Amino acid sequence: MIIAPSILASDFAKLGEECRAIEAAGADWVHVDVMDGHFVPNITIGPDVVKALRPHVSIPFDCHLMIAPADPYLEAFREAGADMISVHPEAGPHLNRTLQRIRALGAKAGVVFNPSTSPSVIEYMMDDIDLILVMSINPGFGGQSFMPSQLKKIETLRRMIDASGKDIWLEVDGGVNPVTARQCADAGATALVAGSAVFKGGPSAYAANIAALRG
Ligand code: DX5
Ligand code: ZN
Repeated sequence: MIIAPSILASDFAKLGEECRAIEAAGADWVHVDVMDGHFVPNITIGPDVVKALRPHVSIPFDCHLMIAPADPYLEAFREAGADMISVHPEAGPHLNRTLQRIRALGAKAGVVFNPSTSPSVIEYMMDDIDLILVMSINPGFGGQSFMPSQLKKIETLRRMIDASGKDIWLEVDGGVNPVTARQCADAGATALVAGSAVFKGGPSAYAANIAALRG
């Protein structure tokens, strides 16, 4: 299971240190929540912050764009060092074009599902996707409770990925803790984002927090 701590829950005054600490604690990816105060009701960080953090760790940067439009910023995130770039289908009129653009920039392309978004959005697009991110909360804030209704969607997407024969990560984001992590794994997830569950207790707890999510 890939564990991607969301730095949204870290100490923003020490972002470089926090990234180094989660890498040392066994994190596989750094999950970066990018919010614009328009697509979601919160504002976080942009490409300049990703660029500043990039030299601090060697693990991939998994950038979750909660911005609309996303297309004008794809290149900036890639140049800043984003390895995976995921977009919400609702953020632009041409999801397929956006995914092609992400791949053309040399990054892995991801599609994010809001709780109300149907798996059918990607039914005819399995060739163009490297990562599927299922939101188990409404995007915008950390610390919310996991929505069990999304487990069925994870199972459906697992079946779609298996039927496609493609190598696509199935990642879950929101309210992931050791209990819900197990439910996601059973439903077929291969990657988990966790903010509060990783960063609680401070740096000395990160390794144990990450290990607890692996079960
Ligand atoms: C919310 C973000 C999540 C969030 C998860 O919009 O996409 O990545 O940080 O935080 P927790 O793990 O605390 O629910
Ligand atoms: Zn996220």
